[in-house]
Amino acid sequence: MTDINQFIEGLPKAELHLHIEGSFEPELMFEIAKRNRIEIPFGTIEEVKEAYKFNNLQEFLDIYYAGANVLITEKDFYDLTWAYLTKIHKQNVVHTEIFFDPQTHTDRGVSFDTVITGIHRALVDGKERLGISFVLIMSFLRHLSEESAFETLKQAAPYKDWIEAVGLDSSEVGNPPSKFESVFKKALDENYLTVAHAGEEGPAEYIWEALDLLKITRNDHGNRCMDDDRLVARLVDEQMPLTLCPLSNLELKVVPDLRDHPIAKMMERGLLVTINSDDPAYFGGYMNENYIATAEALELTKDQITTLAKNGFKASWLPEEEKNQRIEEVETYYQHN
Ligand code: HPA
Ligand code: ZN
Repeated sequence: MTDINQFIEGLPKAELHLHIEGSFEPELMFEIAKRNRIEIPFGTIEEVKEAYKFNNLQEFLDIYYAGANVLITEKDFYDLTWAYLTKIHKQNVVHTEIFFDPQTHTDRGVSFDTVITGIHRALVDGKERLGISFVLIMSFLRHLSEESAFETLKQAAPYKDWIEAVGLDSSEVGNPPSKFESVFKKALDENYLTVAHAGEEGPAEYIWEALDLLKITRNDHGNRCMDDDRLVARLVDEQMPLTLCPLSNLELKVVPDLRDHPIAKMMERGLLVTINSDDPAYFGGYMNENYIATAEALELTKDQITTLAKNGFKASWLPEEEKNQRIEEVETYYQHN
């Protein structure tokens, strides 16, 4: 397997499903909590790690929002984003499309400007100093009201040039895409692309809604499409990308074991699937760990791994020329390794 691991490590990769708040490593959380003089309910890194044991999405979200509470200043958001970029740089991730959750911060009195300016400044530095291209996606929290999402869309207006798309995350069951149809319509009218988390814990029906009502360009997660043959046929037909997150699925008990992960079957059926890390600080791995664990559990071949890496670029919003160049790079790497 070492051979495969090395192959994965050297492969140029694109990440398309990453919550920047979910890349908040305990070490940095302690440092920022200290400088902002904020109490956190953990004494040691070990205690933090102990708390990161989840039975479902909600148990994770409760801890994830608590962790984000220590982020206050523009520098905090810069440091958070910069730490993520330096990490993925070492893993040969050359393009990343990241989510941020403005409401997690604006609801605590941190201004939209502080959040986005810190994140964006780090992304620009990452492009310049590490060569990592990027896209920023503003995600609405689906457990909050549609009115709150409208307010967030309004706050984003002055920063429109920095935001490519809007997304939908947080507690899925009971908060279907249809709840946000109007605000997504407004976002589409304003020329944002749209994506949504659907079919992680929620049913296949939510994926239909995301497609038909929110007019998504990509579906985040989407595991549950496998319950519905007609839906799979449509996703294949439209080559709708699914941004899968294997270690996240394992940690949140979406799958009982990685050997049960549907990604290989999905590929066989012709779905455009990609591997991503979701919330790497909480789920025990960045891109390489996700690829390696999945390859090991499902005994993926280099050929399959290469397809997954190509899919990452194919499903990205890179300009066509850059996209093709990256896919070519992956192919060349495969030929030589
Ligand atoms: N699902 C829903 N909401 C989230 C996730 C996720 O995997 N990560 C961060 N917010
Ligand atoms: Zn996610």
